[in-house]
Amino acid sequence: MTPSKFVFLLAVLATVSLAAPTPIVLLHGIKATNQTMAHVADLLRQTIPGVYVHNAEIGKGDVDSFWPMTKQIDYLCKDLAADPHLQGGFNVFTVSQGGLVTRGYVERCNSPPVRNIAFWVSPQAGVSGVPMVEPWCDQVFHNSSLCYALDHVFDAVVYTKEVQRPAGRPGQPARGQEPQYRANMLALHDIVMVHSDIDKVLVPRESSSWVQYGPDGKTLVPLQQTEMYKQDWIGLRTLEESGRLRFATVSIPHDDYYSPAFDGLFTKHALPVLMKN
Ligand SMILES: *[C@@H]1O[C@H](CO)[C@@H](O)[C@H](O)[C@H]1NC(C)=O
Ligand SMILES: *[C@@H]1O[C@H](CO)[C@@H](O)[C@H](O)[C@H]1NC(C)=O
Repeated sequence: MTPSKFVFLLAVLATVSLAAPTPIVLLHGIKATNQTMAHVADLLRQTIPGVYVHNAEIGKGDVDSFWPMTKQIDYLCKDLAADPHLQGGFNVFTVSQGGLVTRGYVERCNSPPVRNIAFWVSPQAGVSGVPMVEPWCDQVFHNSSLCYALDHVFDAVVYTKEVQRPAGRPGQPARGQEPQYRANMLALHDIVMVHSDIDKVLVPRESSSWVQYGPDGKTLVPLQQTEMYKQDWIGLRTLEESGRLRFATVSIPHDDYYSPAFDGLFTKHALPVLMKN
């Protein structure tokens, strides 16, 4: 091989590796397994030739999607850290509750780091909760799985509510105000949060665009009016003001991740984010 051919070959190799698509992690929702994301995985592989897709499964089967949030996050942290294909960073497409686990991954672990995220109907601001459910599970419902489903919902509420709590214990930041959470969130390149205006699962359905009930349990309070946002505890204000946090509204049932209608909306709102470096 002549030197010029060798240089040409190197240049081709460099271009190929630069152009390699960013790996994508898929994360399913509650009462589901990664089978529910198989269609999206196929769609991505057809649309982005050569893309590496890690279709994450929390535990084994759908029961463990009711695990406490922190346990699911820890599981995901180990699972993704163990995948050699992801070590240079990756993008995430996540549906429903998977969005909370994904956010927990970014805030608490982020190793390997997430670059871009498309959240699909994820209850960012929690869901209208069932307070004090934990003692009931044991004493009244004898630890029935339904009860743990409720408990899980409560857990998600606690997880998101704590992010909004103004003050921590003396000398300690409140949960959600740890500098690491903010730094990790600000390391994200681009985020889209997709909300469905016909969602019948999330209460309020606006939770997927980070709108929550006010103290009266009726009034809807937008993200931008929360202290968490105004004081930029987890970096959302900075992300939005720099054009890296965007919101989109679609009209599709909460758990439709399969239909041609879904494909169209996914291609419009999520795919561009997932194709970024
Ligand atoms: C779900 O995850 C398991 C464990 O990682 C994997 O073996 C399986 O292939 C995945 N299923 C799909 C449909 O991707
Ligand atoms: C429910 O589970 C808890 C924790 O595992 C256990 O201590 C308790 O005895 C159980 N209650 C019933 C009624 O089975």
